[in-house]
Amino acid sequence: MSIQQTATAPAIAQTQTNQKIMTSTSDTYKTVGRNIIPNPKFSTRNVNVFYGDKQAIFDTSLDIGNNEVVALIGPSGCGKSTFLRSLNRMNDTIPICRVTGEFTLDGEDIYAKTMDPVLLRARVGMVFQKANPFPKSIYDNVAYGPRIHGLASNNAELDEIVITSLEKAGLFKEVKDRLNAPGTGLSGGQQQRLCIARTIAVSPEVILMDEPASALDPIATAIIEELIDELRENFTIVIVTHSMQQAARVSQRTAYFHLGKLIEVGKTSQIFTNPRCELTENYITGKFG
Ligand SMILES: Nc1ncnc2c1ncn2[C@@H]1O[C@H](COP(=O)(O)OP(=O)(O)OP(=O)(O)O)[C@@H](O)[C@H]1O
Ligand SMILES: [Mg+2]
Repeated sequence: MSIQQTATAPAIAQTQTNQKIMTSTSDTYKTVGRNIIPNPKFSTRNVNVFYGDKQAIFDTSLDIGNNEVVALIGPSGCGKSTFLRSLNRMNDTIPICRVTGEFTLDGEDIYAKTMDPVLLRARVGMVFQKANPFPKSIYDNVAYGPRIHGLASNNAELDEIVITSLEKAGLFKEVKDRLNAPGTGLSGGQQQRLCIARTIAVSPEVILMDEPASALDPIATAIIEELIDELRENFTIVIVTHSMQQAARVSQRTAYFHLGKLIEVGKTSQIFTNPRCELTENYITGKFG
């Protein structure tokens, strides 16, 4: 009898873990998994985002930890970029966009009237899908932020910031002999690393990346992914990606969005091997999206 019990126990456990949670189709829902963590670097609560009358993000709460890479995944149009842009108030630049909810960086309200969005965007930097170097030299692209924020008191200090940033972005060796050449003359993968160097040059606390490698070939993508892993030592990173392999390679936690709702959050390995929600499972197994 006891042998039988032992034999059947794992099967029951298996069935229970494989039973998937169905997400409510109404506006009220509850995110499954660890969307809230102790001592977060960045914290968001009950976030709603609207474009005019159309709601793009519904009641979303998500914490991001120190030195953590969190991947945002989900089908096209589910609100990944919208949510990401709300983290450094880039949505403020879209006139019809309205954001509600709480956003705190180290406990500080980033939507407070006293918060200067320009300074905030230096603390929470952003790297876009398409590399967008300024029509300036490689040096001036990286020096741009430190100059406007007055981070260097002389040329030697500025040189130091530019070189260190290019090194951290894994680009210095390739460009050290042509720092005065235009940034736009670099390859796509190099331009993206230049944009990463430009972002790091102002010593951000958090880096937001919106599909940073989607326009790159596999080699340039691998370089960016390796870089993300190194950057994690000094920065907190939120990355939107359509590549589940990429999310699996670079992130520690993954957040799955569906039609503007944060359906499930968990350790990346768990989300990809044993998601708790049916919607997440359908997406990662390619049933839709
Ligand atoms: N500037 C805008 N004006 C009006 N609606 C917008 C705007 N930007 C996004 N939306 C809408 O908000 C919803 C979420 O869009 P968002 O770009 O955040 O999705 P996404 O998950 O990043 O998609 P993708 O994977 O295709 O980049 C979509 O319905 C989109 O049409
Ligand atoms: Mg997007």
